Amino acid sequence: MKFSSLLMCALAPFVSSSMSGFEADPELERFVMGLPKAELHLHMEGTVEPEVFLEIAARNGMDMPYKDAEAVKERMRSAYDLPSFIEMYEELIGVVRHPEDIRDITLHYYRKAYSQGVRRVEMYFDPQLHLERGMTLEEVFTGLAMGKAAAEAELDDLTIGFIMAFLRDRPAEAAMQVLEDAKPWHSMLLGVGLDNPEVEDFPTKFKEVYARAKSYGLRLTSHCDVQQKNTIAHHWGVIKVLGVERIDHGLNVLDDPELLAEVKKRGIGLTGVPSLFYREMPGRMEYRAGAIKGLLDAGVEISIHSDDPGMKRGLYVGDLMLRAQATAGMTREDLVTMAKNSFRTAWITDEECSNWLAAIDGYVAKFE
Ligand code: HPA
Ligand code: ZN
Repeated sequence: MKFSSLLMCALAPFVSSSMSGFEADPELERFVMGLPKAELHLHMEGTVEPEVFLEIAARNGMDMPYKDAEAVKERMRSAYDLPSFIEMYEELIGVVRHPEDIRDITLHYYRKAYSQGVRRVEMYFDPQLHLERGMTLEEVFTGLAMGKAAAEAELDDLTIGFIMAFLRDRPAEAAMQVLEDAKPWHSMLLGVGLDNPEVEDFPTKFKEVYARAKSYGLRLTSHCDVQQKNTIAHHWGVIKVLGVERIDHGLNVLDDPELLAEVKKRGIGLTGVPSLFYREMPGRMEYRAGAIKGLLDAGVEISIHSDDPGMKRGLYVGDLMLRAQATAGMTREDLVTMAKNSFRTAWITDEECSNWLAAIDGYVAKFE
Protein backbone atom coordinates (compact mmCIF):
# COMPACT_ATOMS: atom_id res chain seq x y z
CA MET A 1 0.00 0.00 0.00
CA LYS A 2 1.48 3.34 -1.01
CA PHE A 3 1.33 6.23 1.43
CA SER A 4 -1.98 7.91 0.74
CA SER A 5 -1.77 11.47 -0.51
CA LEU A 6 -5.07 12.12 1.24
CA LEU A 7 -3.54 11.26 4.58
CA MET A 8 -0.56 13.43 3.71
CA CYS A 9 -2.90 16.40 3.22
CA ALA A 10 -4.61 15.69 6.50
CA LEU A 11 -1.28 15.62 8.30
CA ALA A 12 0.31 18.48 6.42
CA PRO A 13 -0.18 21.13 9.11
CA PHE A 14 1.57 18.90 11.65
CA VAL A 15 4.55 17.51 9.81
CA SER A 16 7.27 19.15 7.85
CA SER A 17 9.88 17.25 5.90
CA SER A 18 12.44 17.96 8.61
CA MET A 19 9.91 17.35 11.40
CA SER A 20 11.67 20.12 13.29
CA GLY A 21 9.67 21.08 16.33
CA PHE A 22 8.01 17.68 16.21
CA GLU A 23 6.06 16.80 19.33
CA ALA A 24 4.82 13.29 19.90
CA ASP A 25 1.72 12.40 21.85
CA PRO A 26 3.17 11.99 25.39
CA GLU A 27 1.48 8.65 26.05
CA LEU A 28 2.63 7.20 22.73
CA GLU A 29 6.10 8.54 23.39
CA ARG A 30 6.24 6.77 26.75
CA PHE A 31 4.98 3.59 25.07
CA VAL A 32 7.56 3.68 22.24
CA MET A 33 10.52 4.60 24.43
CA GLY A 34 9.80 1.69 26.79
CA LEU A 35 9.08 -0.85 24.05
CA PRO A 36 11.96 -3.37 23.88
CA LYS A 37 13.64 -3.23 20.50
CA ALA A 38 16.77 -4.31 18.63
CA GLU A 39 18.89 -1.77 16.76
CA LEU A 40 20.12 -3.68 13.73
CA HIS A 41 21.37 -0.88 11.58
CA LEU A 42 23.66 1.86 12.73
CA HIS A 43 27.23 2.83 11.98
CA MET A 44 29.62 3.26 14.89
CA GLU A 45 31.18 6.15 12.97
CA GLY A 46 27.82 7.84 12.43
CA THR A 47 26.95 7.88 16.12
CA VAL A 48 29.41 10.69 16.78
CA GLU A 49 27.51 13.75 17.97
CA PRO A 50 29.03 17.23 17.54
CA GLU A 51 29.92 17.59 21.23
CA VAL A 52 31.57 14.14 21.35
CA PHE A 53 33.47 14.98 18.17
CA LEU A 54 34.88 18.17 19.73
CA GLU A 55 35.81 16.43 22.98
CA ILE A 56 37.77 13.71 21.17
CA ALA A 57 39.42 16.17 18.79
CA ALA A 58 40.55 18.30 21.76
CA ARG A 59 42.01 15.44 23.76
CA ASN A 60 43.81 14.14 20.67
CA GLY A 61 45.31 17.59 20.20
CA MET A 62 43.80 17.97 16.74
CA ASP A 63 43.39 21.39 15.29
CA MET A 64 39.94 21.31 13.70
CA PRO A 65 38.33 24.04 11.64
CA TYR A 66 35.23 23.92 13.89
CA LYS A 67 35.20 26.27 16.87
CA ASP A 68 32.08 24.90 18.52
CA ALA A 69 29.29 22.31 18.24
CA GLU A 70 27.25 24.63 16.04
CA ALA A 71 30.10 24.76 13.52
CA VAL A 72 30.34 20.93 13.49
CA LYS A 73 26.58 20.78 13.00
CA GLU A 74 26.90 23.18 10.11
CA ARG A 75 29.35 20.74 8.47
CA MET A 76 26.87 17.90 9.08
CA ARG A 77 24.13 20.03 7.56
CA SER A 78 26.02 20.24 4.27
CA ALA A 79 25.00 16.64 3.43
CA TYR A 80 22.22 16.38 0.85
CA ASP A 81 22.69 12.87 -0.56
CA LEU A 82 24.68 9.69 0.08
CA PRO A 83 28.00 10.76 -1.51
CA SER A 84 27.97 14.20 0.19
CA PHE A 85 27.03 12.57 3.48
CA ILE A 86 29.89 10.05 3.22
CA GLU A 87 32.37 12.81 2.39
CA MET A 88 31.45 14.56 5.65
CA TYR A 89 31.35 11.27 7.60
CA GLU A 90 34.81 10.24 6.43
CA GLU A 91 36.17 13.66 7.32
CA LEU A 92 34.70 13.83 10.82
CA ILE A 93 35.64 10.28 11.76
CA GLY A 94 39.24 11.37 11.27
CA VAL A 95 39.27 12.44 14.95
CA VAL A 96 39.28 8.80 16.05
CA ARG A 97 42.85 7.79 16.85
CA HIS A 98 42.80 5.51 19.87
CA PRO A 99 40.81 2.55 21.23
CA GLU A 100 39.55 4.84 24.02
CA ASP A 101 37.94 7.10 21.39
CA ILE A 102 35.93 4.15 20.07
CA ARG A 103 35.06 3.08 23.62
CA ASP A 104 33.71 6.54 24.47
CA ILE A 105 31.84 7.05 21.20
CA THR A 106 30.10 3.69 21.46
CA LEU A 107 29.35 3.96 25.18
CA HIS A 108 27.71 7.32 24.56
CA TYR A 109 25.58 5.68 21.88
CA TYR A 110 24.67 2.59 23.98
CA ARG A 111 23.46 4.73 26.86
CA LYS A 112 21.34 6.89 24.62
CA ALA A 113 19.86 3.94 22.71
CA TYR A 114 19.17 2.07 25.94
CA SER A 115 17.17 5.03 27.22
CA GLN A 116 14.94 4.56 24.15
CA GLY A 117 14.26 0.86 24.77
CA VAL A 118 17.11 -0.72 22.78
CA ARG A 119 18.14 -4.05 24.33
CA ARG A 120 20.07 -5.53 21.44
CA VAL A 121 22.60 -3.72 19.22
CA GLU A 122 24.16 -5.06 16.03
CA MET A 123 26.63 -2.35 15.12
CA TYR A 124 28.30 -1.73 11.76
CA PHE A 125 31.83 -0.40 11.79
CA ASP A 126 34.21 0.53 8.96
CA PRO A 127 37.71 -0.80 9.73
CA GLN A 128 39.11 0.47 6.43
CA LEU A 129 38.42 4.08 7.37
CA HIS A 130 40.55 3.67 10.49
CA LEU A 131 43.28 1.62 8.82
CA GLU A 132 43.62 4.29 6.15
CA ARG A 133 44.54 6.77 8.91
CA GLY A 134 47.12 4.52 10.52
CA MET A 135 45.15 2.80 13.27
CA THR A 136 45.61 -0.95 13.55
CA LEU A 137 42.87 -3.55 13.49
CA GLU A 138 43.87 -4.50 17.01
CA GLU A 139 43.20 -0.94 18.19
CA VAL A 140 39.82 -0.84 16.45
CA PHE A 141 38.69 -4.17 17.94
CA THR A 142 40.06 -3.24 21.36
CA GLY A 143 38.00 -0.04 21.34
CA LEU A 144 34.87 -1.93 20.31
CA ALA A 145 35.48 -4.57 22.99
CA MET A 146 35.98 -1.93 25.69
CA GLY A 147 32.75 -0.12 24.81
CA LYS A 148 30.80 -3.38 24.71
CA ALA A 149 32.16 -4.60 28.05
CA ALA A 150 31.41 -1.29 29.76
CA ALA A 151 27.89 -1.08 28.33
CA GLU A 152 26.92 -4.68 29.03
CA ALA A 153 28.15 -4.31 32.62
CA GLU A 154 26.25 -1.06 33.14
CA LEU A 155 23.00 -1.64 31.24
CA ASP A 156 20.86 -4.61 32.29
CA ASP A 157 19.82 -7.07 29.56
CA LEU A 158 21.69 -5.24 26.80
CA THR A 159 23.62 -7.44 24.35
CA ILE A 160 25.89 -6.18 21.61
CA GLY A 161 27.41 -7.67 18.47
CA PHE A 162 29.36 -6.25 15.54
CA ILE A 163 29.10 -6.24 11.76
CA MET A 164 32.35 -5.51 9.96
CA ALA A 165 31.65 -3.44 6.87
CA PHE A 166 33.65 -3.19 3.67
CA LEU A 167 33.68 0.03 1.66
CA ARG A 168 31.90 -0.43 -1.65
CA ASP A 169 33.87 2.37 -3.30
CA ARG A 170 37.26 0.79 -2.51
CA PRO A 171 38.72 -2.30 -4.29
CA ALA A 172 37.41 -5.76 -3.41
CA GLU A 173 41.03 -6.79 -2.74
CA ALA A 174 41.14 -4.34 0.17
CA ALA A 175 37.98 -5.92 1.61
CA MET A 176 39.45 -9.42 1.27
CA GLN A 177 42.62 -8.27 3.00
CA VAL A 178 40.68 -6.85 5.97
CA LEU A 179 38.60 -10.02 6.19
CA GLU A 180 41.77 -12.11 6.40
CA ASP A 181 43.68 -9.74 8.69
CA ALA A 182 40.74 -9.60 11.09
CA LYS A 183 40.78 -13.38 11.63
CA PRO A 184 42.03 -13.13 15.23
CA TRP A 185 38.88 -11.12 16.01
CA HIS A 186 36.32 -13.06 13.95
CA SER A 187 34.84 -14.40 17.17
CA MET A 188 33.79 -10.82 17.99
CA LEU A 189 31.86 -10.54 14.74
CA LEU A 190 28.29 -11.50 13.93
CA GLY A 191 28.79 -10.93 10.25
CA VAL A 192 29.89 -8.62 7.47
CA GLY A 193 28.24 -5.80 5.51
CA LEU A 194 28.86 -3.35 2.67
CA ASP A 195 28.49 0.41 2.89
CA ASN A 196 29.69 3.77 1.52
CA PRO A 197 28.58 5.17 -1.86
CA GLU A 198 26.75 2.66 -4.01
CA VAL A 199 28.96 1.90 -7.00
CA GLU A 200 28.02 0.18 -10.23
CA ASP A 201 27.86 -3.64 -10.00
CA PHE A 202 28.85 -3.71 -6.36
CA PRO A 203 27.24 -7.07 -5.61
CA THR A 204 29.34 -8.83 -8.27
CA LYS A 205 32.44 -6.97 -7.16
CA PHE A 206 32.27 -8.50 -3.67
CA LYS A 207 31.09 -12.00 -4.59
CA GLU A 208 34.31 -13.75 -3.55
CA VAL A 209 34.69 -11.73 -0.37
CA TYR A 210 31.18 -12.72 0.71
CA ALA A 211 31.73 -16.39 -0.17
CA ARG A 212 34.90 -16.35 1.95
CA ALA A 213 33.15 -14.59 4.85
CA LYS A 214 30.39 -17.18 4.72
CA SER A 215 32.95 -20.00 4.77
CA TYR A 216 34.26 -18.46 8.03
CA GLY A 217 30.80 -18.74 9.58
CA LEU A 218 30.01 -15.03 9.33
CA ARG A 219 26.47 -13.84 8.58
CA LEU A 220 25.80 -11.61 5.60
CA THR A 221 24.01 -8.31 5.12
CA SER A 222 24.50 -5.36 2.75
CA HIS A 223 23.28 -1.86 2.15
CA CYS A 224 20.98 -1.17 -0.74
CA ASP A 225 20.45 2.52 -0.16
CA VAL A 226 17.24 4.28 -1.07
CA GLN A 227 16.66 5.38 -4.66
CA GLN A 228 20.16 4.75 -5.94
CA LYS A 229 21.00 4.09 -9.59
CA ASN A 230 20.15 0.50 -10.66
CA THR A 231 18.63 -0.10 -7.27
CA ILE A 232 16.39 -3.02 -8.28
CA ALA A 233 19.30 -4.82 -9.96
CA HIS A 234 21.43 -4.19 -6.87
CA HIS A 235 18.76 -5.69 -4.61
CA TRP A 236 18.65 -8.80 -6.79
CA GLY A 237 22.45 -8.90 -6.75
CA VAL A 238 22.80 -8.82 -2.97
CA ILE A 239 20.20 -11.59 -2.72
CA LYS A 240 21.33 -13.88 -5.53
CA VAL A 241 25.05 -13.13 -5.89
CA LEU A 242 25.99 -12.34 -2.29
CA GLY A 243 23.33 -14.40 -0.50
CA VAL A 244 22.46 -11.85 2.19
CA GLU A 245 20.04 -12.58 5.04
CA ARG A 246 19.21 -8.92 5.61
CA ILE A 247 19.23 -5.79 3.45
CA ASP A 248 20.09 -2.46 5.04
CA HIS A 249 17.62 0.28 4.05
CA GLY A 250 16.12 -1.68 1.12
CA LEU A 251 13.00 0.48 0.81
CA ASN A 252 12.85 0.17 -2.97
CA VAL A 253 11.82 -3.46 -2.57
CA LEU A 254 8.32 -1.98 -2.51
CA ASP A 255 8.67 -0.88 -6.15
CA ASP A 256 9.05 -4.34 -7.68
CA PRO A 257 6.45 -7.04 -7.02
CA GLU A 258 8.77 -9.89 -7.99
CA LEU A 259 11.50 -8.63 -5.71
CA LEU A 260 9.00 -8.11 -2.91
CA ALA A 261 7.80 -11.71 -3.30
CA GLU A 262 11.40 -13.00 -3.22
CA VAL A 263 12.24 -11.00 -0.08
CA LYS A 264 9.18 -12.43 1.63
CA LYS A 265 9.83 -15.96 0.40
CA ARG A 266 13.38 -15.93 1.74
CA GLY A 267 12.41 -14.16 4.98
CA ILE A 268 14.95 -11.41 4.36
CA GLY A 269 14.76 -8.70 7.02
CA LEU A 270 14.86 -5.05 5.95
CA THR A 271 16.45 -2.49 8.25
CA GLY A 272 14.36 0.57 7.36
CA VAL A 273 15.81 4.00 8.00
CA PRO A 274 13.44 6.97 7.89
CA SER A 275 16.04 9.56 8.92
CA LEU A 276 17.25 12.17 6.50
CA PHE A 277 20.41 13.84 5.43
CA TYR A 278 20.12 17.41 6.68
CA ARG A 279 19.56 19.00 3.31
CA GLU A 280 17.28 16.51 1.70
CA MET A 281 14.42 17.72 -0.42
CA PRO A 282 11.04 18.28 1.20
CA GLY A 283 8.94 15.14 1.16
CA ARG A 284 11.71 12.66 1.89
CA MET A 285 10.56 11.71 5.39
CA GLU A 286 7.09 11.17 3.95
CA TYR A 287 8.54 8.97 1.22
CA ARG A 288 10.64 6.85 3.59
CA ALA A 289 8.07 6.44 6.33
CA GLY A 290 5.41 5.68 3.70
CA ALA A 291 7.61 3.00 2.13
CA ILE A 292 8.27 1.43 5.54
CA LYS A 293 4.53 1.34 6.23
CA GLY A 294 3.91 -0.11 2.74
CA LEU A 295 6.46 -2.88 3.26
CA LEU A 296 5.06 -3.64 6.69
CA ASP A 297 1.54 -3.90 5.26
CA ALA A 298 2.89 -6.18 2.54
CA GLY A 299 4.10 -8.59 5.24
CA VAL A 300 7.85 -7.93 4.97
CA GLU A 301 9.90 -8.28 8.18
CA ILE A 302 10.92 -4.65 8.35
CA SER A 303 11.91 -2.63 11.39
CA ILE A 304 13.13 0.92 12.02
CA HIS A 305 16.77 1.86 12.68
CA SER A 306 18.84 4.96 13.21
CA ASP A 307 21.82 4.49 10.81
CA ASP A 308 23.83 7.57 11.86
CA PRO A 309 22.06 9.08 14.85
CA GLY A 310 24.88 11.52 15.69
CA MET A 311 25.19 12.87 12.16
CA LYS A 312 21.56 12.83 11.05
CA ARG A 313 19.85 15.32 13.35
CA GLY A 314 20.56 13.47 16.63
CA LEU A 315 17.57 11.17 16.12
CA TYR A 316 17.72 7.77 17.80
CA VAL A 317 15.54 4.75 17.11
CA GLY A 318 12.66 5.70 19.43
CA ASP A 319 12.63 9.25 18.03
CA LEU A 320 12.46 7.83 14.52
CA MET A 321 9.68 5.36 15.29
CA LEU A 322 7.60 8.24 16.62
CA ARG A 323 8.27 10.42 13.59
CA ALA A 324 7.59 7.59 11.16
CA GLN A 325 4.37 6.79 13.02
CA ALA A 326 3.16 10.38 12.77
CA THR A 327 4.26 10.80 9.17
CA ALA A 328 2.83 7.59 7.73
CA GLY A 329 -0.16 7.14 10.00
CA MET A 330 1.16 3.94 11.59
CA THR A 331 -0.87 2.27 14.30
CA ARG A 332 0.42 1.23 17.71
CA GLU A 333 0.18 -2.34 16.44
CA ASP A 334 2.51 -1.44 13.56
CA LEU A 335 5.07 -0.20 16.06
CA VAL A 336 4.79 -3.41 18.07
CA THR A 337 5.14 -5.51 14.91
CA MET A 338 8.30 -3.62 13.96
CA ALA A 339 9.77 -4.07 17.45
CA LYS A 340 9.05 -7.80 17.14
CA ASN A 341 10.51 -7.88 13.62
CA SER A 342 13.71 -6.32 14.96
CA PHE A 343 14.21 -9.34 17.23
CA ARG A 344 12.94 -11.84 14.64
CA THR A 345 15.59 -10.68 12.17
CA ALA A 346 18.34 -10.09 14.76
CA TRP A 347 21.28 -12.46 14.81
CA ILE A 348 20.41 -13.96 18.18
CA THR A 349 19.43 -17.49 19.21
CA ASP A 350 15.84 -18.74 18.81
CA GLU A 351 15.57 -18.81 22.58
CA GLU A 352 16.67 -15.19 22.94
CA CYS A 353 14.22 -14.25 20.22
CA SER A 354 11.29 -16.04 21.92
CA ASN A 355 12.18 -14.38 25.23
CA TRP A 356 12.15 -10.93 23.67
CA LEU A 357 8.87 -11.56 21.83
CA ALA A 358 7.33 -12.64 25.15
CA ALA A 359 8.82 -9.58 26.86
CA ILE A 360 7.19 -7.35 24.23
CA ASP A 361 3.81 -9.06 24.73
CA GLY A 362 4.20 -8.60 28.48
CA TYR A 363 5.10 -4.94 28.07
CA VAL A 364 2.11 -4.27 25.79
CA ALA A 365 -0.30 -6.09 28.11
CA LYS A 366 0.95 -4.17 31.14
CA PHE A 367 0.92 -0.81 29.41
CA GLU A 368 -2.75 -1.02 28.43
N1 HPA B 1 24.54 4.30 3.48
C1 HPA B 1 23.69 4.97 4.26
N2 HPA B 1 24.04 5.52 5.37
C2 HPA B 1 25.32 5.38 5.76
C3 HPA B 1 26.24 4.70 5.02
C4 HPA B 1 25.83 4.13 3.81
O1 HPA B 1 26.59 3.50 3.08
N3 HPA B 1 27.42 4.75 5.67
C5 HPA B 1 27.20 5.45 6.80
N4 HPA B 1 25.94 5.83 6.85
ZN1 ZN C 1 23.66 2.58 6.83
